[in-house]
Amino acid sequence: MNYEEAVSLLKKHGQEHLLKYYGELNEEGKRNLLNDIEKLNFSVTDNININGAKKPDGDLSPCKAVSLADIEKNRAQYEAEGLKLLKEGKAGAVLLAGGQGTRLGFSKPKGMFDIGETRSVSIFELLMDSVKSVASRSKPFPLFIMTSEDNNRDTVEFFKEHSYFGYPEDKIHFYIQDTEPACGFDGKIFLASKSRVLLTSNGNGGWYSSLVNAGLKSVLEREGIEWLNVFGVDNVLQKICDPVFIGATHLSGLASSAKVVTKRSAEEKVGVLCERGGKPVIVEYFEMPSALASLRGEDGQLVYRYGVILNYLFKVDMLDKTVREKLPYHVAVKALAHISDGKKVVPEKPNGCKFETLVVDMVEFMGSCLAYEVERAKEFAPVKNKSGNDSADTARALLKSNGIKI
Ligand code: UTP
Repeated sequence: MNYEEAVSLLKKHGQEHLLKYYGELNEEGKRNLLNDIEKLNFSVTDNININGAKKPDGDLSPCKAVSLADIEKNRAQYEAEGLKLLKEGKAGAVLLAGGQGTRLGFSKPKGMFDIGETRSVSIFELLMDSVKSVASRSKPFPLFIMTSEDNNRDTVEFFKEHSYFGYPEDKIHFYIQDTEPACGFDGKIFLASKSRVLLTSNGNGGWYSSLVNAGLKSVLEREGIEWLNVFGVDNVLQKICDPVFIGATHLSGLASSAKVVTKRSAEEKVGVLCERGGKPVIVEYFEMPSALASLRGEDGQLVYRYGVILNYLFKVDMLDKTVREKLPYHVAVKALAHISDGKKVVPEKPNGCKFETLVVDMVEFMGSCLAYEVERAKEFAPVKNKSGNDSADTARALLKSNGIKI
């Protein structure tokens, strides 16, 4: 794209300010800026008011789940089926590690956080222990690791320094998640520098489209992967490619599944798996009407009680639908550093919006989802905050109570 083409494109979208410093740039800077502009998804800023336009909640209903008791009863059958699929090479995993981890306040990728007490042990190492324990009972399966522009280099180097934690290197596929432009509340896209547009990660719902854009769909096809287990970097107690979960999901005939825990209280801040119009839907805690969140049945239990823990199985042949039909954008209001009046501004308060798609929205697109209950104390130890709830301290206590030496 040349300068004139950029001017006319930007005019069409009311974003001419992006060329304000063009005349000050050297040749490389000009090239970078024109490249950024050429690739911009301008329509994303149309979503700026989307959070005000919520869907009606009227037809929400609770979902049924395969309970702990059901799973115990059928464990042998589910496990045998899952191990068979793993041995046939039909399952793989995707680690979502593209987040910023701002709440933890750790400057490196969250997976590099040392959670050890008597020894040094990173979150990545604990997750890889889980991967290896399943692989040793079946065979090594492909592990896709989604990073961001910001943390990719550190993540890849960390794995290399640790010899891929003893996992076959050729089974690990790193890829960088795609970005979207960020803008002010007026919809004007920000510049990160005079020669670069401000691009920010497009949320964890971007994991599949980014994997495809990174050229990794060929790996799924080559390996004949039918199920992908998508999981977050935060939960240090989770089971990855759990054969019982894979078996139960496959035998259910449904297109996706989500590990869920019974909510601790009506107020617990987790997304809840529900149904809307007969389809699975995950309602985020801040979108859940409080009357529904606190509703109790005759047995005294919360009616909407199944909280998701970011551990899903998706049927691979259904995933292209999420790209074709496009996941909805969510707006995250953030403090965004940018160029204003020729200078870098680093605001302390939110000054604009970034646009994200979320993995929680994927189950709706898949059309069906098995809610699969797991024991919180055995499978859910999130490391989100610096201290207090869901922090490294609470996760350490849970690791120790599960006999994991840290
Ligand atoms: P969180 O919602 O906890 O966000 O991500 P975060 O950015 O990691 O942390 P905070 O909110 O800034 O403290 C849940 C999971 O989704 C991944 C994260 O790495 C984590 O595993 N994620 C999130 C991505 O991979 N990409 C994103 O753009 C956002």
